[in-house]
Amino acid sequence: MPRYSKFMIALHWATAVLVLAAWFTSEGGRHVRENPPLLHFSLGLAVLVLMIPRLLARMAGGAPRIEDTQGPWLNLAAKIGHAVLYVFLIGLPLTGWYAASRLGVPISFFGISLPALAAPVQGPPGLLAELHETGGTLILWLAGLHTLIALWHQFVLRDGTLRRMTPV
Ligand code: HEM
Ligand code: HEM
Repeated sequence: MPRYSKFMIALHWATAVLVLAAWFTSEGGRHVRENPPLLHFSLGLAVLVLMIPRLLARMAGGAPRIEDTQGPWLNLAAKIGHAVLYVFLIGLPLTGWYAASRLGVPISFFGISLPALAAPVQGPPGLLAELHETGGTLILWLAGLHTLIALWHQFVLRDGTLRRMTPV
């Protein structure tokens, strides 16, 4: 069974931990303007930063082919599912950055100040900010489904899929 490169495996698990941590540190509503969750911003931006080496490693051949043991339609479904996760992993931090900009709060990445992506507003931060809040929870459901599928492969189909994403 071919595996993901060690580098891609490290980035996959680091990202999973960061997404979970970003979710646990997230806050919504009026509270955010008064007391912005800076740890949430840093953890979420770390997801975005890790996407750069991850996509480069992927393009450089760090991801093995999806094994053709489950038929072309399920393979396509797996590819689409992974692509959707990638869209969330890029879209969520960007919409969060935008939401923080519209709320007019300082944005920093572990102490490094970052510029705002949009001008601040007095009222609600807008549609992209709402999408961020909904998407922020949706990604957990998607990741949960993804986990269940991985466990299904491992313990029911017993086709070794999980080992593709584990270092040993
Ligand atoms: C994978 C990364 C991220 C996840 C999973 C995530 C998740 C969430 C969730 C679930 C909420 C809603 C919380 C609630 O309603 O109680 C939220 C709100 C928020 N997040 Fe994130 N977030 C991420 C990245 C970021 C980043 C990078 C920033 C800023 C640089 C950010 C800024 C915000 C702001 C400002 C809000 C409040 C929006 C509002 O009140 O309208 N997020 N996030
Ligand atoms: C927030 C949590 C997670 C996210 C965002 C996530 C995201 C992803 C993405 C985008 C891929 C495709 C990688 C590529 O082909 O470039 C992937 C692959 C994989 N993930 Fe996750 N993952 C998460 C958690 C988990 C967990 C908890 C498990 C296991 C219990 C898991 C098991 C796997 C496996 C086995 C693969 C390889 C699938 C294959 O190509 O055969 N993931 N994950």
